[in-house]
Amino acid sequence: MSEENKLFTITIDGETTQVTPGTSILNAARQMGGPSVPPAMCYYSKLENSGGRCRTCLVEVSKGSEADPRPMPKLVASCRTNVMDGMEIKNITSPKTQAARHAVTEFLLLNHPLDCPICDQAGECHLQDLGYEHGIEQTRTEFERRTFEPEDIGPYIKLNMNRCILCARCVLAANQLTEKREHGILFRGDHAEISTLLNKSLDNDFIGNVIDVCPVGALTDRTARFTSRVWFTKPMNATCSCEKCSGKAVLWFKGEEIVRVTARKNQYGEVEDFICDTCRFHRKDAFLWAIEGPRNIERHSVISLNHYVKAEDTINRLDNPDAKEISFSDEKQVENEIPQ
Ligand code: SF4
Ligand code: SF4
Ligand code: FES
Repeated sequence: MSEENKLFTITIDGETTQVTPGTSILNAARQMGGPSVPPAMCYYSKLENSGGRCRTCLVEVSKGSEADPRPMPKLVASCRTNVMDGMEIKNITSPKTQAARHAVTEFLLLNHPLDCPICDQAGECHLQDLGYEHGIEQTRTEFERRTFEPEDIGPYIKLNMNRCILCARCVLAANQLTEKREHGILFRGDHAEISTLLNKSLDNDFIGNVIDVCPVGALTDRTARFTSRVWFTKPMNATCSCEKCSGKAVLWFKGEEIVRVTARKNQYGEVEDFICDTCRFHRKDAFLWAIEGPRNIERHSVISLNHYVKAEDTINRLDNPDAKEISFSDEKQVENEIPQ
């Protein structure tokens, strides 16, 4: 293999793999897959300059590289640290990493409200998952939580600043997908907040994607809020002929009714293709879509749990003649079929 095509050999939690130079530890772990993939609340592969803000992806580097085997003195943010040849990383096998993740979770929840029972993100919230996995049972804070009134930012988006973890994904998405910068993080430290301030309105064709990139329930779809708990809805892959975007979306059905339209997301909760606001907010009529079949929710989440059905049953229940094309290679792939 030529020098420029040389791969780096790394070990994560005792498992060895090879990746291209320049890969971050987080992406190397994602390529490997399995339980060693660190959680990521601010990194988003589709958004430039994301990561480095939430610290949930901290890992221990027990061997820096083959050339310099000294361990890194502190835990590092895996989304912002690139692999070196011979690097050894510990995630789930590191008590230090686990302790740090507990502490980061406690910090993220310091001002967070106990809103899960009424929050539209519940069931598909990265912070909720993190809280279950690493949270402590009680708060230790003695101070008043900082609170904000919910705000309408534009006609379709609600901001619940109380739930925001300041990951900046929405700011990066707005910067990247729209022509003008309309909102950002104002102030610093524990005064920091997301705001539009100038005109209180985010209004352009792709701004709805900030809802999809938000890892928590801070930004929600005003056309879908409180229509249903997510686990009572049934996600279906669908396409429409849209001039502005790919038209590839997920329709969330409650009975016969489409209650929500979102972009398709991968197992890390990241959007595959950003969709336009027309598809998201204005196409809630099933006749406007070609339904492909049930959406497999790959992400670790309550909506992908406890819904075991046989593949044959799933296919038989679909009216779509193309449904037989859908490949259900194992039971795990269809466990996300949600009852109506
Ligand atoms: S954002 Fe997540 S953790 Fe916070 S209240 Fe909503 S569901 Fe619960
Ligand atoms: S509103 Fe959501 S996406 Fe934006 S900074 Fe807060 S948590 Fe992140
Ligand atoms: S995902 Fe790495 S710091 Fe947030």
